[in-house]
Amino acid sequence: MKPLPGFRDLFPEDFARRNYLVGKWRETARRYGFVEFDGPTLESAELYRKKNSGGEILGQLYEFTDKGERAVALRPEVTPTLARMVAARHRDFPKPMRWFNVGTCFRYERQQRGRLREFLQFNCDLVGDATHAADAEVIALLIDLLRSFGFGPEDFAIRLSDRSAWHDFMTLHGVGKERATEFLTIVDRMEKMPAEKTEELLAPFAIPLATLREFITRAEIPVLAPLLADLEARGLRDYVRPDLGVVRGLAYYTGVVFEAFALHGGLRAIAGGGRYDRLLADLSDGSADLPAVGFGVGDAVLLELLKECPAAKLREEAALKADAPTQIYLVIADENHRFDAISLAQQLRGVGWRVGFPLGAEKVGKQFGNAEASGASHAVVIGVEWPTVKVKRLSDRHEESVPADSLLSWLTASGS
Ligand code: HAM
Repeated sequence: MKPLPGFRDLFPEDFARRNYLVGKWRETARRYGFVEFDGPTLESAELYRKKNSGGEILGQLYEFTDKGERAVALRPEVTPTLARMVAARHRDFPKPMRWFNVGTCFRYERQQRGRLREFLQFNCDLVGDATHAADAEVIALLIDLLRSFGFGPEDFAIRLSDRSAWHDFMTLHGVGKERATEFLTIVDRMEKMPAEKTEELLAPFAIPLATLREFITRAEIPVLAPLLADLEARGLRDYVRPDLGVVRGLAYYTGVVFEAFALHGGLRAIAGGGRYDRLLADLSDGSADLPAVGFGVGDAVLLELLKECPAAKLREEAALKADAPTQIYLVIADENHRFDAISLAQQLRGVGWRVGFPLGAEKVGKQFGNAEASGASHAVVIGVEWPTVKVKRLSDRHEESVPADSLLSWLTASGS
C-alpha cells in the first residue's frame, strides 16, 4: 500500500529536512516581529467561494458533506482563515498585526514536480496598514527567508506587479468587474499556455493577444516606485523585477502582487503573495474593514531547490549534521561498567546532551560503527580504566583520557 498520489510519507530523514525548513521559517518571521497563529484545517466550503479565494483553487478543493450535512473543505490555503479570525477579534490586537502560520494545506492539483496534494505552507501577513511600507516589509521578509537558506540573486528573483495597473487596463478595454477574475486568470496562465489557447480564451473579451503582450512588456509601472525605493534603501533592489506578467491566480488581490521564482530549472514559482484590502471587509460584512498584505511559500519546491543549489545544500547539510540525533555515543568496552555508563548517560542527558549507548553487550568495533552511524561527534569509551574514560573525536580519531567526573566540563569546553 502506497500513500495516495500527491501525499507523502515523511520518514525521519525527510522530517529532519522539513524541520530545518520550518526552523528557518519561524526564525525569519520572528526577526520581523511576526507572531504565530493557526486555524482549523477543515473549514466551511463557503469560505473559499467566489469573492474569497476564487480562481483556479475552487476547482482543486477537497470538499465533501460531513455527517452533519455541512458542506466542508480541507483548507487549500490559509488566507481566508486568517481573514475570518482577524475579522472576529481584530479590536483585541494593536495594528498593524504581523501574523504567521505554518500549516498543512490540500489542493487536488495535477501532479508535477514540487506540486503536491498535501503540502506544508508558510504564510506571513501584515494586517492594518495600507502603505507601501507594509508591502516592502513582507517582500523583504520573503527575500531574507530565501537568503537564510543560502540562495542569492543568481538563484531567485521576485517578480513584482500591481493589479491596479490591470484594473486600468480592464477599464480601458471594457472588461466589467464581474468578469475581472476570469480575465485575470487568463493572464495568470498565459505563460504556461500555447498562444492559440490564450487567443481562444481572450476572444469573448475582444482583446487581441498582441495588445496584452504589449501592455505586459511596458517598461514602467509607476505605481511601484515608492515600494522599489524602500527596497533599494534596504539593499534588496537587485532581487526584484517589475513585471506586469504576474497577476496571481487568486481572486482577492487588490494591489501589489508578487511571486518568487527560481532562476534555474525552468522558472519555478517558489512563493506568491500580494495585497488584499477588501477580503476582511467582505468576510465581515464591512465591520472589519482592514487592509492586508502577505505571502505564502510551500515546503515542496523549497526542498527541491535546496538539493540543486550547492551553497544552500552545504548549509543544509551542516545544519542537519549539527542537529544529528546523537552527539555523544558511549562505547561500553567492559560490561562490568554498564551501570557506570548508564549513570553517565543519564547525567549527560540531564543537562541537554543527546546521548546514545548500546542496550546490550556488543563488540567494540560494532559500537564504533553505530556511533558513527548515529551522527555522534564523539565516542566515550568506558572500560577497565574506569573511573577514567577515553574520549575519541570521530572525525579524526583524536583521543584523550578524561576522568569521568570531569567529562561534562571537558565536553562543554571542547564545544562538541
Ligand atoms: P499561492 O500562490 O496559491 O498563494 O501559494 C503560495 C505558495 O504555496 C506557492 O508559491 C507554492 O510554494 C505553495 N503551493 C501552492 N500550492 C502548492 C501545491 N499544490 N504543492 C506544493 N506547494 C504549493 C496562496 O496560497 C496565498 N494564500 C498566499 C498569500 C498569503 N497571499 C497573501 N497572504
